[in-house]
Amino acid sequence: MSALLEVTEVHAGYGDVKIVHGISLQVAPSEIVTIIGPNGAGKSTLLKAIFGTLRPTRGSVVLDGADVTGWPAHRMVQAGAAFVPQTNNVFPSLSIKENLEMGAFRRASGVAQRMEELLAQFPDLARRPGELASRLSGGQRQALAMCRALMLDPRLLLVDEPTAALSPVMREQLFAQIEAIRDSGVAILMVEQNAREALAISDRGYVLVNGQVAVEDSGRALLDNPDVGRMFLGRMDPDVTGDTGDTGGTEDVETTPAEPDEGTR
Ligand SMILES: Nc1ncnc2c1ncn2[C@@H]1O[C@H](COP(=O)(O)OP(=O)(O)OP(=O)(O)O)[C@@H](O)[C@H]1O
Ligand SMILES: [Mg+2]
Repeated sequence: MSALLEVTEVHAGYGDVKIVHGISLQVAPSEIVTIIGPNGAGKSTLLKAIFGTLRPTRGSVVLDGADVTGWPAHRMVQAGAAFVPQTNNVFPSLSIKENLEMGAFRRASGVAQRMEELLAQFPDLARRPGELASRLSGGQRQALAMCRALMLDPRLLLVDEPTAALSPVMREQLFAQIEAIRDSGVAILMVEQNAREALAISDRGYVLVNGQVAVEDSGRALLDNPDVGRMFLGRMDPDVTGDTGDTGGTEDVETTPAEPDEGTR
């Protein structure tokens, strides 16, 4: 795999507090890669260290062959990355169209055309471009935030918990939109708490615990992994407990539903 993003042994934290302890990960072009893990594991910190809103103390970040370690966010954008934080990711007092224009502020030309292309993928937004972002539903707002980030044609989109606080129907819609973004040629690295749904659309995933990678595998294999299921996927249903017959080993496979549904958050 030739990686679009290659993160090697990255350490990061806040002042003297070390949070991320030597994390390595890769994202290939047009892949969806999901990071899951308990609250406080360092998932958001890792995204910030990759995107340059926080400077890694050690390790390297290579994007499309260029060493971008420690580059500030605006240079990361020029290098082809975009970041959608979990909150405060749109301008609430601006309209949909104005938000998209703000997203394109560094774009020399083709703003209207890019907006048209993106809105074609997001009919809910296309229907009322003059609507204020503050009046959108949670899911529409997240969609707008992603659209805004896509205005500069990034090759890599980093997204922090896009479906937090969304209803199941809205989550499904947003994950479908994320797949469509991937299909348009943009690689996606996302952090998600709705681990089951996120892994189902992911090529690969990483489980972060205490600032380190605990498990790394394909999305499907993580869904089938009994330990991951017990810790992050809530109650295990027959679909997840190994109907493929290939759960990867002879160790004790959990047969009891271990966690209640709300166990992921
Ligand atoms: N700006 C900050 N200054 C100091 N400590 C911080 C800061 N942001 C996060 N932390 C601490 O870093 C640790 C990891 O936080 P982080 O936000 O990366 O976790 P997370 O895995 O994204 O968790 P969650 O699932 O709750 O979003 C936590 O202990 C948190 O309190
Ligand atoms: Mg977080």
